[in-house]
Amino acid sequence: MLDLTQSTSADRALGHHAMERLAELDAFTDEPGMLTRLYLSPAHRRAVDCLLGWWRALGIEAKLDAAGNVIARYEGETPGAPALIIGSHIDTVRNAGRYDGNLGVVAALTAVEQLARRGERLPFAIEVVAFGDEEGVRFPTTLSGSRALAGTFNPATLDERDRDGVSRRDALTAFGCDPDGIGAVARKRDQVLGFLEVHIEQGPVLESEGLPVGIVTAINGATRLAVQMRGTAGHAGTVPMGLRHDALTCAATAIVAIEELARSQPGLVATVGRIEARPGAVNVIPGEALFTVDIRSSDDAQRTRAVAEIGARLGALAQARAIALEITTTHEAAACACHPDIVSQIEAAVARQGLRPLRLASGAGHDTMAVAALCPVGMLFVRCDGGISHNPAERITVEDADAAVRVLLDAIRRFRPVPGR
Ligand code: GLV
Ligand code: MN
Ligand code: MN
Repeated sequence: MLDLTQSTSADRALGHHAMERLAELDAFTDEPGMLTRLYLSPAHRRAVDCLLGWWRALGIEAKLDAAGNVIARYEGETPGAPALIIGSHIDTVRNAGRYDGNLGVVAALTAVEQLARRGERLPFAIEVVAFGDEEGVRFPTTLSGSRALAGTFNPATLDERDRDGVSRRDALTAFGCDPDGIGAVARKRDQVLGFLEVHIEQGPVLESEGLPVGIVTAINGATRLAVQMRGTAGHAGTVPMGLRHDALTCAATAIVAIEELARSQPGLVATVGRIEARPGAVNVIPGEALFTVDIRSSDDAQRTRAVAEIGARLGALAQARAIALEITTTHEAAACACHPDIVSQIEAAVARQGLRPLRLASGAGHDTMAVAALCPVGMLFVRCDGGISHNPAERITVEDADAAVRVLLDAIRRFRPVPGR
């Protein structure tokens, strides 16, 4: 096998194009000095406009849809043919790295650019999607763009509100999208041949194997909870310790219990990523504590059992302190298997590019999980430095970006619909 990182066959032009575009997108942030690009924010809008401009420059039709996705369509030999959809997301976490999601969009654009520049038409159309709501940082539920495409968007989520009280519906309208048109974003199954997503691995496996890319077999399932604990706010100086109903200390014991549970079960991970104490003053006993829980496993039964166990443990802890407890499930995604035929096709493309094919599972969630309700799906992972992600230290090399685009381009050119579709 050739080691692509040592290859001199090209000047890694595709990797350079991708990296330059990623650097441009990196400038679109809602928080100066770091990359934070939440769904339907001003920075998201600027990233959308930048993408629309890139597609326009290539002479490829692109538009913003009702759910806030940017969709470009490159016609095949016959206009109106069913499409292979390729994409990822352009929203980010707070203080993010520039590659999570964005790499997949830029890799797809860079690959399609190669076809367009050569006037190469395939027996199917290609659509490239930049989803806007994968991270789920702004609103309680997530994957709304990919769910809209798959026809599984829940209109009730239009009433959800962000931290500032802005509803999803109003945020969509202000962004220039039509919330009532989201149902029409859903694709007809016979118009979609499959879905491919390129994404950084966000873990250390490829680095440890010395490989630039890998083929994803499955994506872990996830449940997200919003927990509210209500006690009694009071004076920090006057209420004796034994007479308090402190919601925050109750939450603290709950967080430790959640960690203990996840540590005790191989394959299970659980994270409390956000907590808020109310009213939030130095001299007030917290009357209310709100926190999130993110629970994941490749085994849906294990995850479901863990969610029930967390509910029971939190119930007991709250009862012992006479704290009122409310747990709301904000997100639920079953573990998702990539389609074996698409996995084999990507694997063959990796091998044709002179790389050792390695199959691996994804611990992180992806738009692919939502699109799997619509069509056969597959993912290509790209090595990232130290496996670090959701962190400004997230890095990939230009060589690996180049390898990813070349594998994607090869997989597109040789793509054949899964039998039976
Ligand atoms: C997205 O990055 C997720 O897995 O939470
Ligand atoms: Mn991502
Ligand atoms: Mn992410």
